[in-house]
Amino acid sequence: MNHTELKVGFVGFGGAALAQYRAFHLLDGCRVTAVYDPRPGGRTRARNLSPTLFITDDFDAFLNSGIDIVSVCSPDRTHAEYMARSLAAGKHVISEKPLTDALEGCQTILHAEQQAPDCVAAVQHQMRFLPIHQEMKRIIRRGELGKISYIEGYYVHNLTTRANAYDTWRFEDNATPLVYSGCHFVDLLRWLLDDEVVEVAGMANHIAFPDYPESDCNVILLRFRSGIIGKVITAFGAGRPQDHAVRVYGTEKSIENNLLFTRDNRHRVFIRPDPFQTISGERNMQRAFLEHNLNGNHSLKHRASYMLRGLQALAFGHLFEQLGRRYKELPDYAISNYPLRLYEHGFAVVASLNNFVEAIRTRTRPLCTVTDSAKTVATCLAGVESYRTGRFVAMDAYWLPEFAETPSIAPLAVEQQHALVTTRAAAP
Ligand SMILES: NC(=O)c1ccc[n+]([C@@H]2O[C@H](COP(=O)([O-])OP(=O)(O)OC[C@H]3O[C@@H](n4cnc5c(N)ncnc54)[C@H](O)[C@@H]3O)[C@@H](O)[C@H]2O)c1
Repeated sequence: MNHTELKVGFVGFGGAALAQYRAFHLLDGCRVTAVYDPRPGGRTRARNLSPTLFITDDFDAFLNSGIDIVSVCSPDRTHAEYMARSLAAGKHVISEKPLTDALEGCQTILHAEQQAPDCVAAVQHQMRFLPIHQEMKRIIRRGELGKISYIEGYYVHNLTTRANAYDTWRFEDNATPLVYSGCHFVDLLRWLLDDEVVEVAGMANHIAFPDYPESDCNVILLRFRSGIIGKVITAFGAGRPQDHAVRVYGTEKSIENNLLFTRDNRHRVFIRPDPFQTISGERNMQRAFLEHNLNGNHSLKHRASYMLRGLQALAFGHLFEQLGRRYKELPDYAISNYPLRLYEHGFAVVASLNNFVEAIRTRTRPLCTVTDSAKTVATCLAGVESYRTGRFVAMDAYWLPEFAETPSIAPLAVEQQHALVTTRAAAP
């Protein structure tokens, strides 16, 4: 389909912007034309990537360079000002997660959005766009799990070398792992359940990444309005590859990553690795992603390793399932550690940006709005207060008047909790 071209400008040009730069190129009718970065390192990175970009350290010149979209990929603390100024200038804006790192910043962004009704504002919470998480959401919405009592998510990512690979802001701003990274799973759990947190209890330590200025391991417990208990783990220094496991316990069935367990101890694999990274209804994008990785300007080595990774995951998964079927006595332990990583970061980034661009073109709401993301920030901030004070923290003090669509954050009575579960099961 031919679309009017949308010109994209980046604010901050480090790791997140590099991932988005590649992703925007895959989207029909999008072209990256400008980069604003106050630090020379970011501007050099952009220049090395493409000498035709308009690259500047003057934010007004950046806004006036003819761009339609601003993608804010600067340090968390700076998002509010850039988003507000971009919206005031009539630009569509997408912010990297977290929306920002303080309630005042959230308010600034929400007010700016209200003043710019013709602009789309979204947040890059790409976890919502992984096929595995989208399927989990469908299973939960159908009510297949019965009554849910527990949900948890893991953000385990060894950042000991990545933290200051491009810039030192995480150290200068004491970026708390919970707000900066745990937000991925606080957001995912809220979204999966269509529910809000009423109370948070947290603990933190500082053992695995002593050079980091903040705690490096945060664990929070969340009490949802429905009575469901949640847990989010954020660990920056664990000696292992990334772990983004999710578990959901229901009375009829339970989810553990891509496995759906029933109460009679059976299981089925509800989503398999897709070597060609497909999402139903996103055909153009799928093709673009595939073509980019297989054809593009990539070396034979890149293409071969892309194919191999996908096929390896698929073959490994099938082999494991066959073994499970053949040797029924295989201990539960083995199957509950299904040896696959169903997290393709690049694909999720493309899918999330695609949703934002579609929202601009069709004048609809993006899947991840700024109000929704501000609630995630508020929940994380309550978690930070809890692990710092050692107390349970009620969400009331963090619930902004701007969150009007959910005005009350009081826990529900038991019969209301049951009603919520029934409504959720009946939702389309
Ligand atoms: N969605 C994800 O999975 C994901 C992953 C990593 C980071 N992020 C988020 O993306 C944002 C950027 O993180 P990153 O990992 O790219 O950081 P980075 O350290 O790799 O790069 C930061 C960039 O911002 C620039 N910068 C520094 N101060 C600035 C300022 N005041 N104004 C504008 N630019 C400034 C730096 O020069 C650098 O180019 C953060 O909000 C972070 O939380 C998201």
